[in-house]
Amino acid sequence: MYAVTHNEEQMIEFGRQLAPVLKPGDLVLLIGDLGAGKTTLSKGIVQALTGVHPDEVASPTFTLIHEFKGRVPVYHLDLYRLETEADVLGIGLDDLFDGKHVLLIEWGERFPALWPKARIEIRIQNVECEDGELRRLSVTRFPETAG
Ligand SMILES: Nc1ncnc2c1ncn2[C@@H]1O[C@H](COP(=O)(O)OP(=O)(O)OP(=O)(O)O)[C@@H](O)[C@H]1O
Ligand SMILES: [Mg+2]
Repeated sequence: MYAVTHNEEQMIEFGRQLAPVLKPGDLVLLIGDLGAGKTTLSKGIVQALTGVHPDEVASPTFTLIHEFKGRVPVYHLDLYRLETEADVLGIGLDDLFDGKHVLLIEWGERFPALWPKARIEIRIQNVECEDGELRRLSVTRFPETAG
């Protein structure tokens, strides 16, 4: 699935629209450069799944993990500051795969060996255009199913 967003509000709205396909146990890798919009997208996803207001969804860059309770609970992680797989395992990664939460992980692509094959990758690209900049998104659920 592909989409384009032109501003922060559209990105949050895209997250809200995407959220219903997510189920407890799903792993979502948010892939994109610094400032691409990973946290902004997370705001909409978290709001739709848990009811938490987007203003309450901040970057977990320093705290590493935020937990949101609600209808479909969410763990939101940011691995930017972690350097090794051992660091990631050290935050209790195994316990986060509890089948009850949706896992939203920023910078997860830095540790490809850690993730199960079954996952959703959301790639966000910043594209310069005439009237400013926009974000191009692609959403892929792996393994991809035929047909
Ligand atoms: N279409 C858009 N979608 C999302 N954010 C946008 C868009 N256009 C501009 N922005 C701006 O880009 C920034 C995105 O910040 P955000 O924290 O979501 O990125 P991030 O990918 O999580 O960054 P980091 O790598 O630091 O975690 C915000 O300042 C936002 O206002
Ligand atoms: Mg972020």
